[in-house]
Amino acid sequence: MTHARISPTLLCANQLCLEEDIRILNTLDIAWYHMDVMDGHFVPNLAFGMETVTAVCRMAEKPVCVHIMAENPSDYIRPLKEAGVSVFIFHLEAEKTPFRLIQAVKAAGMKCGAAINPITPVQSLKPLLGYLDIALIMSVEPGFSGQSFLPQSTEKIKELRALADRYHPGFLIEVDGGINDENICACVENGADVLVGGTLNLFRPPESVADNYRRTVRIMGEASCKSIS
Ligand code: DX5
Ligand code: ZN
Repeated sequence: MTHARISPTLLCANQLCLEEDIRILNTLDIAWYHMDVMDGHFVPNLAFGMETVTAVCRMAEKPVCVHIMAENPSDYIRPLKEAGVSVFIFHLEAEKTPFRLIQAVKAAGMKCGAAINPITPVQSLKPLLGYLDIALIMSVEPGFSGQSFLPQSTEKIKELRALADRYHPGFLIEVDGGINDENICACVENGADVLVGGTLNLFRPPESVADNYRRTVRIMGEASCKSIS
């Protein structure tokens, strides 16, 4: 049995029926809800304002993680804390003083993660490993759902797993973007703990979110068996 878990990204849910999906997802063993916040500057798209984050936090029976694809991530600490967010993930490319930011996020009582874009080397996370709870490896360029998984991401997961195991056992690795039935095994086998469920696996009609969840968990389980034998 794999310990890896799914994190549904609400950007890929039907935006007119978020409540319906959250009711279903509350009953499943997901890691946490993944909400993308975009500012139209760090990425050329806009997503989820504080009203929606707050409304989701009120309904969610699992933690809510916000993936901040925005400049000046420290501006979001207070609003996200007040909204009820548990996990704060900033982009390393958007932050000049990450140690200060991590300290402030933790002082506010949230877990802290750093995300890296496909072009950013894993080594750039090394000095921060002892301070962070999570790292998020972007396996597509940030900003949009429905893009293809960049195959070099699996090598980055492996490299980060080796570094994390050395410097910070218990550190969580999340992978975000283009995850489907074909590449999810490679992510798990290389050391990912949390896999973002998006348009290519979880929110993939005509199957329901619950059926897609069960299929994805079964595939991840098979991946773990393969890596043990
Ligand atoms: C992309 C977002 C992702 C996105 C994933 O910038 O960070 O969370 O919603 O969607 P899929 O899985 O469809 O690539
Ligand atoms: Zn995301």
